[in-house]
This record gives sequence, structure tokens and C-alpha cells, in this order.
Amino acid sequence: MYRPSDLDVEMSEEEFRLLRDLIHEKFGLFFDDNQRPSLRARLQGRLASLGLRSFEDYFHELRFAPERADELVSMVTHLTNNETYFYREGPQLNVFADHVLRQTKERKTRLRSDASLVSEAGLRPDERKTRSGERTLRLLSAGCSTGEEAYTLAMIVFDSGQFFWNWEVEVVGLDVDQQALEKARRGVYQHNSFRALAPDVKARHFVPAGPNTFQVKEPIRRMVTWRRGNLVEPESFEGLAPLDVIFCRNVLIYFSDAMILRVVRILRNILAPGGYLCLGHAESLSRITDLFLPVRFQGAMVYQAAGPGVRPEDDP
Ligand SMILES: C[S@@+](CC[C@H](N)C(=O)[O-])C[C@H]1O[C@@H](n2cnc3c(N)ncnc32)[C@H](O)[C@@H]1O
Repeated sequence: MYRPSDLDVEMSEEEFRLLRDLIHEKFGLFFDDNQRPSLRARLQGRLASLGLRSFEDYFHELRFAPERADELVSMVTHLTNNETYFYREGPQLNVFADHVLRQTKERKTRLRSDASLVSEAGLRPDERKTRSGERTLRLLSAGCSTGEEAYTLAMIVFDSGQFFWNWEVEVVGLDVDQQALEKARRGVYQHNSFRALAPDVKARHFVPAGPNTFQVKEPIRRMVTWRRGNLVEPESFEGLAPLDVIFCRNVLIYFSDAMILRVVRILRNILAPGGYLCLGHAESLSRITDLFLPVRFQGAMVYQAAGPGVRPEDDP
């Protein structure tokens, strides 16, 4: 009996190009010529599930089938690397805790006192909302995978003790991978996720949930919301602006330069003036755009949204 999963389906160079270009166009992810075997291995299972005999047929499914949007969602789960853990890249998180949060609070407090010089009575409702929104702290983990990064940000803000009375803190975790987001929502993790977590932080923010399994405590979970979205599509971010800090770490490393630029432009548009962008330590914008100003620290770097009224920070 014919069973597609029994077939070791070849991927021709032409099929590889078609699929590679489609994936790049839809998600920004770039597979170079050496990655044909890897792409084939990742997508083989989709052919089997759909009962297709060739990658060409699969390409047609993705381009033209009425259910193509659903299949793109299913496909992307097999293409992404979801590696992540709590408190990843500690030096940059220290900069976030010690510098970024303080600067952000000062900037917002300054905005508030400037605003109080202007009577709110003369403002339109949307302007009034922006004014009162100044006691909000909004953070985004863009490419949050299974949620460890977004929860880490919430824990750091919580432990900083700086944003309590009258402050509304919101951390949004966004990812294209539906399965990763389901795990993020559950907030239940095992030892791999804890490899960089200090025991006291673990004791403070987790409860046992089974053998070698722990769940993020309720106060932290309440600070975080989850959203399925694609970084290359501006509509994925609807309603999130203005954000104070965006973490987009270990995501753009898989994108082409053209798509990095596209994403970074989108992120710039949803950041508040003076807001911060944190990339992974292997990622840099220096040869791509000057939309952001680098702020360097020992062992870590963050970017600040350039724009009118934003002066480069002195090296702290
Ligand atoms: C290696 S994980 C990084 C997780 C976390 N930011 C960290 O540094 O630990 C990369 C994540 O980016 C997501 N991703 C890749 N392309 C994406 C896209 N176009 N839109 C949204 N998320 C994407 C993947 O699904 C994956 O979960």
C-alpha cells in the first residue's frame, strides 16, 4: 500500500528555490544554498501529512490552495528554532534592570510633568489617553518562542520594585509559532529552561507543578499576554504602540539583511521616542540602518530609537 511517509522524497534545486523564496517572502527566514537537506528534512513530514508526492506539489499547496494560510501556520512551526531559556544573556538583562528601566521611568516622569503644565481640558480624548498612558510600561518580546524571555522581563520589572503604585505594566510575547505560544501560555517548564536561573529567583517566581516541573507564579503570569504574529507584517503589532522596550533576540539572525531592515523599521515605528531595542549578542544593526543609536556597556549593548529630541546617550 502506498504511504507517503514511506517515501524518501527528494527536493530538487528548483523545488528548493521555490520554497526557499516563498518562506523568505512570508516570514523573513532565509535558507542558504547549503541548507537544502535541512529544509527537506524539516518539511518532509508536511508532505506526508497532506498525502503529497513531491515538494513541487507542496509549493502549489502553499501558494494556491484555499487552505494555504492554515498550511503556512503549520509549516512555520517546523522551520523555526525555538531554543530559549530564562535569564538568557545575563549582562544585557542587567543593563535592562539597572539602566533601561531607570531611564524609561525618568523619561516618563519627565513627560508627565511637562504634560501637567498643559491643561488636559483642551485635549482631544485620544490625546488625554496618551497623557494618562504615561504611567504605563509596555514591553515586547518579539519572537518570544515558548515564553521564557517575556516571563524573565516581567520578573525583572517585578523585582525592580520601580513600577508599582499607579503603574500599569504590560509585557507582550509575540511569536509566529502557535505551538510555542501554547507552551508559553501554560507557563510550565523543566530543567532546560532553568539553566541560567538563580535559585532565589526560581524560588520566588515558580511553584512546583510535577516531577522536575515548575510553573510561573500567578502575579508574573498576569503581567504577560501572548499574541500570534509575524514580525514582517506591520498588522501583527496593531494596538501595541507606543512600546517602551522591545526585545528581539536570536530571531533576526535567521533573516536576510533586507528582511532585518523591514522588521527593524516596523519596530522603530511602534517604539516610543527614546525607547529601547535589545537584540541578541550575535546581532548588530551597524551595517543595516542608523534608525537606532547603539548604547554600549561592558559586555552588552542596547539600541535606542533615534529621532528628534533623542540625543545619543553618553557611554554610561
Ligand atoms: C531562537 S528563538 C528566540 C527566543 C528568545 N527571543 C530568546 O532569545 O531566547 C526564535 C523565535 O523566533 C520566532 N520567529 C521566527 N521568525 C518569526 C517571524 N517571522 N515572526 C515572529 N516570530 C518569528 C520563532 O518561532 C522562534 O520561536
